[in-house]
Amino acid sequence: MSFKAVVLVGGPQKGTRFRPLSLQLPKPLFPIAGVPLIEHHIDQLCQLSGLSEILLLGFFPTDLFTEFIDRCQKTYRVSIKYLEEPNPLGTAGGLVSFKNTILSGDPDAVFVINADVCGDLPIEDMGAKIDSISGSSMLMLTTEATRQQSINFGSVVTDSNGKVVHYVDKPTTFVSTNISCGVYLMKTEVIRQLDLPLNGDGIWLETDVLPQLAASGNLYALHTTRWWSQTKTAAAVLYANRHYLRLYKKRYAARLCKNGAQIIGDVFIDPSAKVHPTAKIGPNVSIGPNSVIGKGVRIKESIILPEAVIEENACVLQSVIGWRSVVGVWARIEGIPLEPNPNLPFAKMDNKPLFLPDGRLTPSLTILGSDVSVAPETIILNCVVLPYKELTCSYKNQIIL
Ligand code: GDD
Repeated sequence: MSFKAVVLVGGPQKGTRFRPLSLQLPKPLFPIAGVPLIEHHIDQLCQLSGLSEILLLGFFPTDLFTEFIDRCQKTYRVSIKYLEEPNPLGTAGGLVSFKNTILSGDPDAVFVINADVCGDLPIEDMGAKIDSISGSSMLMLTTEATRQQSINFGSVVTDSNGKVVHYVDKPTTFVSTNISCGVYLMKTEVIRQLDLPLNGDGIWLETDVLPQLAASGNLYALHTTRWWSQTKTAAAVLYANRHYLRLYKKRYAARLCKNGAQIIGDVFIDPSAKVHPTAKIGPNVSIGPNSVIGKGVRIKESIILPEAVIEENACVLQSVIGWRSVVGVWARIEGIPLEPNPNLPFAKMDNKPLFLPDGRLTPSLTILGSDVSVAPETIILNCVVLPYKELTCSYKNQIIL
C-alpha cells in the first residue's frame, strides 16, 4: 500500500498549558530526548515502507518550520511540506481545505496524527490492519485509561472484531476506558468524501467525522498496550523524555559524549555540549547543543536546553533548564517527582491545574524559562520561572513572573 501522513501541529493559540516553554518556539518543535517533538512522529512514520510524503498542517506562520523541514527532509529522505491554515480550521478543516494536496499522488491511505501525543506508535501494524479492512473505512489507535481519566479523551466502544460501535469525544459521564490516542489511518476515500462546509467554527474530526463513521460501521480500532501519552503540559515533557530515551536507546548510545563524564541509565548528550568529566549525569537526562556542564555537576531526570550553562557543583533534579539560562555554582534546582509513576509504560498524565484549590502551586517539576540566571548557592524548589529573570535568592513553590 502507499501512504501519506498529516501531522496536526495546531498554532500559536494552542499549547498555552505548555508555557513558559512554548514562549520561545512552537510547542511541536520543543526538543525531547534530543529532537523536536514532531520529529519523533516523522522518525516513526519513516519506518513504514510505502510512505511518500509528510504534511505538517497548522496555523503557525510557515517560516517557523522552514529550517526544521529542510533538515528533516535530508535526514529522513522523505518529502515534507508545511500547509498553513489562514485561521484555525479545526482538526478536520485543513483536511478538507487542502484535500487536493493531500490526495495528490493518489495514496491508498493517509495517517493523521495529533502533534501533541507521544509514544511508541504501532505505525506498521496500523498499515497492515487497514489493508485488511474493505470499504471506505478509517482506523483509530486506542489505548486503556482509568474511568476517571477517560472522560478527558475520545471514548471508544468496540465490538469483538474491533469495529467501533460508539464514539464520543470527552463525554460528560463515563462511557469506556478505551480511549482514542489521536492517531488515525484513513482510506483515501474517507478524505475524498469529506465535504462539510468550512465555517467559522471549523470542522472537527472528533465531533463531525468520527461519530458519523462509527454510526455507518466504517470506523475500526487498533488497541495498543505500548507506551503512549500526551504532551499537553510542560510537566509532561520529563515523562516523554524518559520514554523516548528508552525507546531510542541504541541510537542515542552511539551519540553519547566520549569525554568520560559519568553516565547513569538513559542519557542523550548533544555532541556539541561540553560536559566536564567529573559531572555525573542520569538517568533520564537530555542535554542540548552548545550547553556547558561544569565540574562536579549532578543532573538527574531533567532536560537541559541549548546553550544553558550549569556551573561547578550545581545540582539539577526533575527540572527543565531553559535556553541560555545559567545556574550558578553550588546552586540546587529541584522539582518534585510527578504522578503518574513514570515507570508505568502507558500511564496517562492527569493534566492537573497549575494551582491547587488552596492557591498553592501544584507540586511539579521546576522550569526555568529562557535566559534565566540563578545566583550561586541558592535553592530553587518546585518553581516555574519566566524568561529573563535574575534570581538572586532561594525560592520555593512559586511562579516567578
Ligand atoms: N491544523 C490544526 N488546526 N490543528 C489543530 C487545530 C486546528 O484548528 N486545533 C487543534 N489542532 C491540533 C492540536 O495541535 C493537537 O495536536 C490536535 O489537533 C488535537 O488537539 P485538541 O483539539 O487540543 O484535542 P485534545 O488533544 O484535547 O483531544 C484530542 O486528542 C486526544 C488524544 O490525545 C482528541 O482527538 C481526543 O479524542 C483524543 O483522545
